[in-house]
Amino acid sequence: MVPPISLCFFLLLLCFLLPFISANSSLDDVFSNFPDALPDAPTLSNVGSLSPGFRPHPAGEPLPLPGLYKTSWKKFRVDEMDPTNKHITVFFPTNYDASAPPFRFLAYAHGFGGGGLQTGPVYYEICSALASWGYVVTLHHSCDVGCTREDGKFGFDDYYKEQLKAIDWAEGMWEAGDAAFANLDFESGVGVVGHSMGGQATLFSSAYNATSHNIKAAVYHHAWTEDFPAPQVPFLSMTSTYDDEADATTMGQAIYDIEGTEHHTKGLVSKANFGHHEADILGINPLLGQFTAAWFKLMLEGKGEESNVDYEEMIFGTSSTSICGGGDGAVDDNMCELVDNRH
Ligand SMILES: *[C@@H]1O[C@H](CO)[C@@H](O)[C@H](O)[C@H]1NC(C)=O
Ligand SMILES: *[C@@H]1O[C@H](CO)[C@@H](O)[C@H](O)[C@H]1NC(C)=O
Repeated sequence: MVPPISLCFFLLLLCFLLPFISANSSLDDVFSNFPDALPDAPTLSNVGSLSPGFRPHPAGEPLPLPGLYKTSWKKFRVDEMDPTNKHITVFFPTNYDASAPPFRFLAYAHGFGGGGLQTGPVYYEICSALASWGYVVTLHHSCDVGCTREDGKFGFDDYYKEQLKAIDWAEGMWEAGDAAFANLDFESGVGVVGHSMGGQATLFSSAYNATSHNIKAAVYHHAWTEDFPAPQVPFLSMTSTYDDEADATTMGQAIYDIEGTEHHTKGLVSKANFGHHEADILGINPLLGQFTAAWFKLMLEGKGEESNVDYEEMIFGTSSTSICGGGDGAVDDNMCELVDNRH
């Protein structure tokens, strides 16, 4: 079987970056000015359709909503993280005043090959989009191609624990009054979200550690997984018709169908004409951030609308602004459904 081109791309990138991943972070610091070097619009996603993961943005899709806040980011070194890379980039809202409602916290988990030096640029757009809706978002850099194990090999089994560590660390930063964590309500619960291998991590975190980490809602972006533990919180499984890496049916749909979630509030959305990289710089869907945020607004904050943005309609509605009705552009009609068991 010929591996997808996007996988080859990541492997090439890895060969280039591997020497630096476990070495010290001086080079990482050199690269830490990444957003300044990026244009506002996602131009890399238009490079060409080499594989489904690289499909160009289809014409005629709705424009993304502007979000509520401008955002900024800051990179921290965190000793508790896996030795593969100890950085966490934090994205947070700016330009708010004393009347702004408290922000909430999300931990984003990157995918395979999306850790290390490239983490920030690869997930800059989705994490900035989430922050623009009033979220403080951590993006850890550790475990690019797996986490360090005691036997010296790399493994993914415990990757979700990096997401849990990011939550623990963020809570400490919030308690310490760090400026990036200002105006945050941490105590009412947090959200988890991640892409691909980080989608699996998010599934695991929300299945195993929702209680220990006060996780109240989850969104999986193209989760790659062969294990299906039952999430303990309302979850949205997002996939796409051309996902050649985390298959829409055997992974995206299978997560939605996990036994034991029949009475959950949950959703499944398969975006048409997009590939695995809907969440990252290689194939970003500019609408992904607002619908991910809308899920958290409803499930984490119980907030149905805000500043004339109707989150309830975006998720559970049927109008052309709803996720299954055209608001997220074209979707696979056979794979877009929502179960509302909120009471
Ligand atoms: C990285 O730097 C820290 C101090 O900042 C040092 O203790 C550690 O040994 C260094 N690691 C490597 C692999 O150079
Ligand atoms: C996850 O939850 C289990 C209990 O379900 C607990 O034993 C474990 O310590 C938690 N993991 C972390 C990293 O806190």
